[in-house]
Amino acid sequence: MTKLSVNINKFATLRNSRGGNRPNVLQAAIDAERFGADGVTVHPRPDERHIRYDDVRQIKQIITTEFNIEGNCREQSFIDLVLEVKPHQVTLVPDTLGQLTSDHGWDTIQNKNYLVEMIGVFKSAGIRTSIFVDPEVRMIEGAAETGTDRIELYTEGYARKYADDPRYAVQEYLVAATRARSFGLGINAGHDLDLENLNYLIKTIPWIDEVSIGHALVCDALYLGYENAVQIYKRQLQIL
Ligand code: PXP
Repeated sequence: MTKLSVNINKFATLRNSRGGNRPNVLQAAIDAERFGADGVTVHPRPDERHIRYDDVRQIKQIITTEFNIEGNCREQSFIDLVLEVKPHQVTLVPDTLGQLTSDHGWDTIQNKNYLVEMIGVFKSAGIRTSIFVDPEVRMIEGAAETGTDRIELYTEGYARKYADDPRYAVQEYLVAATRARSFGLGINAGHDLDLENLNYLIKTIPWIDEVSIGHALVCDALYLGYENAVQIYKRQLQIL
């Protein structure tokens, strides 16, 4: 079954808006696991406007499921943090400085040499690697040549088109995921997944290994409660 990794950055954003320690980000990680999530994701940025580097270090100490750190490996501070913390997985995202949220995948062809080097650095530290990519076959083929363990499909396009036409929205993801599978790559997916669109994606591409979900899950938690929200998202991953 596809795993749910809860991205807890939004808890940190809320905490940082006031100073102090409310909500407690460490507790958010513990509770994600307690409520049934299969892992926790964080996305530290150099300006630490969401999750702070020190949060990441502390979360690693208390987590018992899978820890995924995503971010921009062009920042030496990100590389150093990941190598120090040694999460189960690192997801390489081509963010630019100050970017609101991730909005594109890697060009795995243009950046092939760089990605090969980075994948080597993290894999030799025993960390599983994933490369954030748009659902384009060329980019999947490029990713396969870097030696990465997995790719993460950037699902914003799917989410945007889903309301109009789910079958059309998922098509390029199905093609990309099929190609990725043919290379033996593991497949993650994330960005803008929610209670409306998640189950259809998983039913269409049941070999997705893991989804990481933050924004919508935390928004739903405001109405449903955190425990309920995690459990309802978990149920969306079932193929009935
Ligand atoms: N995957 C990546 C690479 C991301 O940058 C993000 C957002 O931090 C997510 C997944 C989760 O997206 P969302 O917050 O929309 O669920």
